[in-house]
Amino acid sequence: MELREAIRNRRSIRQFLAKSVSEDIIRDLITDTRWCPSWGNTQPWEVVVATGQKLEEFKKKNREALLAGKEAATDIPMPQVWPDDYRARYKELGKSVLGSLSIAREDKKARLQHFVKMFGFFDAPAAILVAVDKDLALEYAMLDAGIFLQTFCLLAHDRGLGTCILAAMVSYPKIVRELFSIPENKLFVMGAALGWPDPDAPVNCFERERGSLDEFVRWVK
Ligand SMILES: Cc1cc2nc3c(=O)[nH]c(=O)nc-3n(C[C@H](O)[C@H](O)[C@H](O)COP(=O)(O)O)c2cc1C
Repeated sequence: MELREAIRNRRSIRQFLAKSVSEDIIRDLITDTRWCPSWGNTQPWEVVVATGQKLEEFKKKNREALLAGKEAATDIPMPQVWPDDYRARYKELGKSVLGSLSIAREDKKARLQHFVKMFGFFDAPAAILVAVDKDLALEYAMLDAGIFLQTFCLLAHDRGLGTCILAAMVSYPKIVRELFSIPENKLFVMGAALGWPDPDAPVNCFERERGSLDEFVRWVK
Protein backbone atom coordinates (compact mmCIF):
# COMPACT_ATOMS: atom_id res chain seq x y z
CA MET A 1 0.00 0.00 0.00
CA GLU A 2 1.24 3.44 -0.84
CA LEU A 3 2.20 5.43 2.28
CA ARG A 4 -0.05 8.41 1.64
CA GLU A 5 -2.98 6.12 0.95
CA ALA A 6 -2.27 4.25 4.20
CA ILE A 7 -2.18 7.48 6.20
CA ARG A 8 -5.36 8.83 4.61
CA ASN A 9 -7.33 5.58 4.81
CA ARG A 10 -6.34 4.27 8.22
CA ARG A 11 -9.20 4.78 10.59
CA SER A 12 -10.17 3.52 14.00
CA ILE A 13 -11.94 0.19 13.76
CA ARG A 14 -14.68 -0.48 16.28
CA GLN A 15 -16.07 -3.74 14.96
CA PHE A 16 -13.94 -6.75 14.16
CA LEU A 17 -14.56 -10.08 12.45
CA ALA A 18 -14.51 -13.17 14.67
CA LYS A 19 -11.15 -14.27 13.27
CA SER A 20 -7.88 -14.51 15.16
CA VAL A 21 -4.63 -12.76 14.25
CA SER A 22 -1.66 -15.12 14.26
CA GLU A 23 1.30 -14.54 16.54
CA ASP A 24 3.52 -14.56 13.44
CA ILE A 25 1.69 -11.56 11.98
CA ILE A 26 1.86 -9.63 15.25
CA ARG A 27 5.55 -10.47 15.56
CA ASP A 28 6.14 -9.18 12.01
CA LEU A 29 4.27 -5.97 12.78
CA ILE A 30 6.31 -5.29 15.90
CA THR A 31 9.54 -6.21 14.12
CA ASP A 32 8.83 -3.48 11.55
CA THR A 33 7.46 -1.03 14.10
CA ARG A 34 10.84 -1.08 15.90
CA TRP A 35 12.19 1.04 13.05
CA CYS A 36 10.19 4.07 14.11
CA PRO A 37 12.18 7.00 15.54
CA SER A 38 12.74 7.67 19.22
CA TRP A 39 14.68 10.26 21.16
CA GLY A 40 18.39 9.39 20.93
CA ASN A 41 17.31 5.97 19.66
CA THR A 42 16.43 5.15 23.27
CA GLN A 43 13.47 2.97 22.14
CA PRO A 44 11.87 3.38 25.56
CA TRP A 45 8.73 1.37 24.83
CA GLU A 46 7.77 -1.86 26.52
CA VAL A 47 5.02 -3.79 24.87
CA VAL A 48 2.48 -6.31 26.09
CA VAL A 49 0.67 -8.38 23.46
CA ALA A 50 -2.48 -10.03 24.76
CA THR A 51 -4.44 -12.71 22.92
CA GLY A 52 -6.44 -15.83 23.77
CA GLN A 53 -7.63 -16.61 27.29
CA LYS A 54 -5.59 -13.87 28.97
CA LEU A 55 -7.11 -11.24 26.71
CA GLU A 56 -10.61 -12.54 27.41
CA GLU A 57 -9.92 -12.32 31.16
CA PHE A 58 -8.65 -8.78 30.70
CA LYS A 59 -11.75 -7.75 28.74
CA LYS A 60 -14.01 -9.28 31.38
CA LYS A 61 -12.29 -7.55 34.29
CA ASN A 62 -12.14 -4.24 32.44
CA ARG A 63 -15.87 -4.41 31.63
CA GLU A 64 -16.69 -5.36 35.21
CA ALA A 65 -14.72 -2.40 36.54
CA LEU A 66 -16.67 -0.07 34.24
CA LEU A 67 -20.02 -1.56 35.22
CA ALA A 68 -19.10 -1.33 38.91
CA GLY A 69 -18.67 2.42 38.33
CA LYS A 70 -14.96 2.32 39.14
CA GLU A 71 -13.29 5.67 38.60
CA ALA A 72 -10.61 5.52 35.86
CA ALA A 73 -7.16 5.55 37.47
CA THR A 74 -4.81 5.86 34.52
CA ASP A 75 -1.05 5.83 35.07
CA ILE A 76 -0.81 9.00 32.99
CA PRO A 77 -3.29 11.60 34.26
CA MET A 78 -6.13 12.29 31.85
CA PRO A 79 -7.16 15.82 30.92
CA GLN A 80 -9.91 17.07 33.19
CA VAL A 81 -10.84 20.11 31.15
CA TRP A 82 -10.79 20.38 27.37
CA PRO A 83 -10.57 23.72 25.56
CA ASP A 84 -13.87 24.49 23.77
CA ASP A 85 -12.64 23.54 20.28
CA TYR A 86 -11.36 20.20 21.43
CA ARG A 87 -14.49 19.46 23.42
CA ALA A 88 -16.60 20.25 20.35
CA ARG A 89 -14.62 17.79 18.25
CA TYR A 90 -14.85 15.16 20.98
CA LYS A 91 -18.61 15.59 21.04
CA GLU A 92 -18.80 15.38 17.25
CA LEU A 93 -16.92 12.10 17.33
CA GLY A 94 -19.30 10.74 19.96
CA LYS A 95 -22.24 11.74 17.76
CA SER A 96 -20.71 10.03 14.72
CA VAL A 97 -19.93 6.81 16.58
CA LEU A 98 -23.31 6.57 18.30
CA GLY A 99 -25.14 7.76 15.17
CA SER A 100 -23.51 5.02 13.09
CA LEU A 101 -24.73 2.52 15.67
CA SER A 102 -28.24 4.06 15.60
CA ILE A 103 -27.96 4.90 19.29
CA ALA A 104 -29.88 7.99 20.31
CA ARG A 105 -28.12 10.36 22.72
CA GLU A 106 -30.84 9.98 25.32
CA ASP A 107 -30.78 6.17 25.16
CA LYS A 108 -28.66 5.66 28.26
CA LYS A 109 -28.93 1.89 28.20
CA ALA A 110 -27.68 1.56 24.61
CA ARG A 111 -24.91 4.07 25.30
CA LEU A 112 -23.78 2.04 28.28
CA GLN A 113 -23.79 -1.07 26.11
CA HIS A 114 -21.52 0.71 23.67
CA PHE A 115 -19.14 1.66 26.49
CA VAL A 116 -19.17 -1.92 27.72
CA LYS A 117 -18.16 -3.02 24.21
CA MET A 118 -15.43 -0.41 24.18
CA PHE A 119 -14.10 -1.60 27.53
CA GLY A 120 -14.09 -5.10 25.99
CA PHE A 121 -12.00 -3.65 23.14
CA PHE A 122 -14.79 -4.09 20.60
CA ASP A 123 -14.27 -7.87 20.78
CA ALA A 124 -10.89 -7.61 19.07
CA PRO A 125 -8.93 -10.88 19.01
CA ALA A 126 -5.68 -9.16 20.02
CA ALA A 127 -4.52 -6.19 22.04
CA ILE A 128 -1.24 -4.38 22.32
CA LEU A 129 -0.32 -2.20 25.28
CA VAL A 130 2.59 0.22 25.38
CA ALA A 131 4.29 1.03 28.66
CA VAL A 132 7.30 3.12 29.64
CA ASP A 133 9.52 3.00 32.68
CA LYS A 134 8.48 5.36 35.48
CA ASP A 135 12.03 6.66 35.91
CA LEU A 136 12.38 7.83 32.31
CA ALA A 137 11.97 11.39 31.09
CA LEU A 138 8.30 10.65 30.90
CA GLU A 139 7.06 13.32 28.50
CA TYR A 140 9.62 12.35 25.87
CA ALA A 141 9.12 8.64 26.39
CA MET A 142 5.39 9.26 25.92
CA LEU A 143 6.09 10.91 22.60
CA ASP A 144 8.19 7.93 21.55
CA ALA A 145 5.43 5.56 22.68
CA GLY A 146 2.93 7.52 20.55
CA ILE A 147 5.14 7.32 17.50
CA PHE A 148 5.51 3.59 18.12
CA LEU A 149 1.77 3.10 18.33
CA GLN A 150 0.98 5.08 15.19
CA THR A 151 3.65 3.20 13.25
CA PHE A 152 2.16 -0.07 14.47
CA CYS A 153 -1.34 1.03 13.44
CA LEU A 154 -0.20 2.01 9.95
CA LEU A 155 1.67 -1.25 9.46
CA ALA A 156 -1.38 -3.18 10.65
CA HIS A 157 -3.52 -1.24 8.19
CA ASP A 158 -1.05 -2.10 5.43
CA ARG A 159 -1.68 -5.79 6.18
CA GLY A 160 -5.46 -5.33 6.01
CA LEU A 161 -5.77 -5.34 9.77
CA GLY A 162 -7.67 -2.80 11.81
CA THR A 163 -6.74 -1.05 15.04
CA CYS A 164 -8.34 1.25 17.53
CA ILE A 165 -6.09 3.08 19.94
CA LEU A 166 -7.94 2.86 23.24
CA ALA A 167 -7.63 4.92 26.36
CA ALA A 168 -10.30 2.51 27.61
CA MET A 169 -7.62 -0.18 27.63
CA VAL A 170 -5.49 1.60 30.21
CA SER A 171 -8.23 3.06 32.41
CA TYR A 172 -7.59 0.49 35.14
CA PRO A 173 -3.86 -0.31 34.97
CA LYS A 174 -4.10 -2.25 38.23
CA ILE A 175 -6.02 -4.95 36.33
CA VAL A 176 -3.30 -5.11 33.67
CA ARG A 177 -0.51 -5.28 36.23
CA GLU A 178 -2.16 -8.05 38.23
CA LEU A 179 -3.27 -10.12 35.28
CA PHE A 180 -0.04 -9.92 33.31
CA SER A 181 2.40 -9.71 36.26
CA ILE A 182 3.76 -6.31 35.27
CA PRO A 183 5.98 -4.49 37.81
CA GLU A 184 4.73 -1.27 39.44
CA ASN A 185 7.44 0.84 37.81
CA LYS A 186 6.01 0.35 34.31
CA LEU A 187 3.49 3.01 33.37
CA PHE A 188 0.90 2.14 30.78
CA VAL A 189 0.63 4.90 28.20
CA MET A 190 -1.97 3.51 25.84
CA GLY A 191 -3.31 0.37 24.24
CA ALA A 192 -4.78 -0.61 20.90
CA ALA A 193 -7.24 -3.24 19.77
CA LEU A 194 -6.08 -5.29 16.80
CA GLY A 195 -8.09 -7.50 14.48
CA TRP A 196 -9.65 -7.95 11.06
CA PRO A 197 -12.04 -5.10 10.36
CA ASP A 198 -15.68 -5.82 9.60
CA PRO A 199 -15.88 -3.86 6.34
CA ASP A 200 -19.67 -3.64 6.36
CA ALA A 201 -20.11 -2.33 9.89
CA PRO A 202 -21.41 1.28 9.74
CA VAL A 203 -19.27 2.09 12.81
CA ASN A 204 -16.23 1.45 10.62
CA CYS A 205 -17.48 3.63 7.78
CA PHE A 206 -18.81 6.96 9.08
CA GLU A 207 -17.41 10.23 7.72
CA ARG A 208 -14.53 11.67 9.74
CA GLU A 209 -13.47 15.28 10.08
CA ARG A 210 -10.15 17.06 10.38
CA GLY A 211 -9.50 20.72 11.10
CA SER A 212 -8.42 22.95 8.24
CA LEU A 213 -4.80 24.10 8.10
CA ASP A 214 -5.96 27.63 8.91
CA GLU A 215 -6.99 26.42 12.34
CA PHE A 216 -3.59 25.23 13.46
CA VAL A 217 -0.77 26.25 11.07
CA ARG A 218 1.14 29.49 11.47
CA TRP A 219 3.24 30.31 8.42
CA VAL A 220 6.30 32.41 9.06
CA LYS A 221 8.40 33.77 6.20
C1 LIG B 1 -4.63 8.54 22.67
C2 LIG B 1 -5.88 8.02 22.02
C3 LIG B 1 -6.87 7.43 22.80
C4 LIG B 1 -8.04 6.94 22.20
N1 LIG B 1 -8.99 6.32 22.97
C5 LIG B 1 -10.12 5.86 22.39
C6 LIG B 1 -11.12 5.21 23.18
O1 LIG B 1 -10.98 4.99 24.39
N2 LIG B 1 -12.25 4.80 22.55
C7 LIG B 1 -12.44 4.95 21.21
O2 LIG B 1 -13.48 4.53 20.69
N3 LIG B 1 -11.50 5.54 20.44
C8 LIG B 1 -10.36 6.00 21.00
N4 LIG B 1 -9.39 6.60 20.23
C9 LIG B 1 -9.59 6.73 18.77
C10 LIG B 1 -9.94 8.17 18.41
O3 LIG B 1 -11.27 8.43 18.73
C11 LIG B 1 -9.69 8.36 16.91
O4 LIG B 1 -8.32 8.20 16.63
C12 LIG B 1 -10.12 9.74 16.44
O5 LIG B 1 -11.52 9.90 16.56
C13 LIG B 1 -9.73 9.97 14.97
O6 LIG B 1 -10.40 9.03 14.16
P1 LIG B 1 -9.64 7.95 13.27
O7 LIG B 1 -8.66 7.20 14.13
O8 LIG B 1 -10.74 7.05 12.74
O9 LIG B 1 -8.95 8.71 12.18
C14 LIG B 1 -8.21 7.07 20.80
C15 LIG B 1 -7.19 7.64 20.03
C16 LIG B 1 -6.03 8.10 20.62
C17 LIG B 1 -4.93 8.66 19.74
